[in-house]
Amino acid sequence: MSTFTKVASVAAASVMALSLAACGARSSSPSTEASGESGSSVAASDISIGIAMPQKTSQNWVEAEQMFNDYCEEKGVECQIQFANGGVVEQQNQISAMIENGVKVLLIGAIDGSQLGTQVQAAKAAGITVIAYDRLLTNTTDIDYYIAYDNFNVGQLQGQALLDGLTAKKGASPWDIELFGGSPDDANSLKFFDGAMDVLQPKIDDGTVVVKSGQQDFTQVATQGWLPANAQNRMSALLTSTYQGGDAVPAGVLSPNDTLARAIITAVDQSGKEIPVVTGQDSEDESVTWVVQGKQYSTIFKDTRALVKASVDLSIATASGEKDPSVDNATVNDTDYESMEGNAVTSYLLKPQIVTADNAAEVYKDDETRMALVNAAK
Ligand code: BGC
Repeated sequence: MSTFTKVASVAAASVMALSLAACGARSSSPSTEASGESGSSVAASDISIGIAMPQKTSQNWVEAEQMFNDYCEEKGVECQIQFANGGVVEQQNQISAMIENGVKVLLIGAIDGSQLGTQVQAAKAAGITVIAYDRLLTNTTDIDYYIAYDNFNVGQLQGQALLDGLTAKKGASPWDIELFGGSPDDANSLKFFDGAMDVLQPKIDDGTVVVKSGQQDFTQVATQGWLPANAQNRMSALLTSTYQGGDAVPAGVLSPNDTLARAIITAVDQSGKEIPVVTGQDSEDESVTWVVQGKQYSTIFKDTRALVKASVDLSIATASGEKDPSVDNATVNDTDYESMEGNAVTSYLLKPQIVTADNAAEVYKDDETRMALVNAAK
């Protein structure tokens, strides 16, 4: 069953209540009307945004749903949000339905960014603005913008955290490490990996770290579907094949996100060996606790509230006729994110933050839920 969320009527009611309450004191609040550069204005209630999301493979996707609904309601725009838990074909169908429903903007968090070419071509033909959310679309030029945390930088932060953790916790180098990547159909996965290797490769080359299994190509280390079971199985297999006997264990493991980090840590735990320095991403509840307690070395904070807000703001600005609008907290990058070779997409990038036990309280200070986890874990 599809979840088809319409907030338009609620929004319209609250807009009305707002203007009545304001009694003309503020004739055009930004939540009721959006102005384009040309001076033309579009009523917020005329803007509908189709939000096509992937499976809920990590907490950030789960949290995004309510955040989108709340922020769309606050801005008075209509948002239709759907998750494609059934996979690529379901997502293709959901996008087609949104186009038929007459949305003005499509925000797409793709399951497989290379398989939506037909749908986004139809969207462009219908005059819809196409924005890739969090994950880039590939194999297409029918894309207007990309908005995400800087995912190459996420990888760099993870690579550096791995080295810092090894230095702090695992004695003198050289250190044995293993590498894990995300799902190969998600365009982010290679960005994370390339970012991490940007930092780690020189240390592999000079012998500071050794990938003992020899598995260091992205295709060898990827984790299909971002499924924790796949990462846990591969880690268990590595322990048997490469770290036989005694207390042999890698000193560090590069993990692209928290879900996989916990699966990797669980595999080592079950073998009874010493937990390596393991990186992560997303600041998922359980990993925040593990980071503060030292069981997982690091995570990344990509505040979903900020990404949702920036995405809806960008959608409203473009639907109001603005071209390349500026968006709070986002830096524009016109060169580094290509949807096809030679087709760089105007990208709005937010800044990710590395989190370790040392800085968790500082990084999460404006996030009540995560602060509570930090305080409880101490
Ligand atoms: C997101 C990550 C997330 C992963 C799995 C990626 O595309 O950027 O934050 O951990 O998907 O859901």
